[in-house]
Amino acid sequence: TDRKKLIAGNWKMNGSIASNDALVRAVVAGMKDAACTVAVCVPAPYLAQLQLLRHGSQLELGSQDVSPHEQGAYTGEVSAAMLKEFGVRYAIVGHSERRQYHGEGDQQVADKAKAALAHGITPIVCVGETLAEREAGRTEEVVKRQLAAVIHTNGHCISEIVVAYEPVWAIGTGKTASPEQAQQVHAVLRAQLKAATGKADRIAILYGGSMNAGNAATLLAQPDVDGGLIGGASLKAPDFLQIIAAAR
Ligand code: G3H
Repeated sequence: TDRKKLIAGNWKMNGSIASNDALVRAVVAGMKDAACTVAVCVPAPYLAQLQLLRHGSQLELGSQDVSPHEQGAYTGEVSAAMLKEFGVRYAIVGHSERRQYHGEGDQQVADKAKAALAHGITPIVCVGETLAEREAGRTEEVVKRQLAAVIHTNGHCISEIVVAYEPVWAIGTGKTASPEQAQQVHAVLRAQLKAATGKADRIAILYGGSMNAGNAATLLAQPDVDGGLIGGASLKAPDFLQIIAAAR
């Protein structure tokens, strides 16, 4: 297909003004001939720093979350309109760490995707099964339920989303899904998107979960793997750049 691949780094709660500066300068310098789109999803306090650092480059900016609300009495939340002011193009929604540690449910995740879309920000919608769910043979059921909420809430707008399949058991564990396991779930998600929109061929489905410089190429070679959502390996410029180079 002619879907351009997307490599998105998710820094999670890591970084400092000094380390961000060194990391982003190295990434920007090293990604000059990248065949894919490259983004970094950073902690909100660093958005202003990143806006300056990426200026004049091809590096895209993302957030790790977004409020489902427009504005108002929501202490601690960051709105899509605020993110937009810093040049944010992507917002991760429904990461398993938010589902697990912050009790986010499918409907809340769908509402967050809707808030992002309303402000021209592309939500990166994360779905994925736990180890117990995989072992119980429930993988397809779980990821389809998670994606269905987003489809039903966002209607025709879903052709503007990015999906990230992140098996929870593969996140930060060093255990990557095999290319076959990833492709199998990606194909299920693609079929679900096809049933919902005529434009499913355009929707990028990323893989996330211990993707690194060594395993990226074979994962990215799968027909329905359109990029990666990279945690740990996005914090090291040489590793992140090798993944970027593998995405073509
Ligand atoms: O959003 C990124 C994923 O949670 C993957 O994290 O690459 O550190 O396993 P990881």
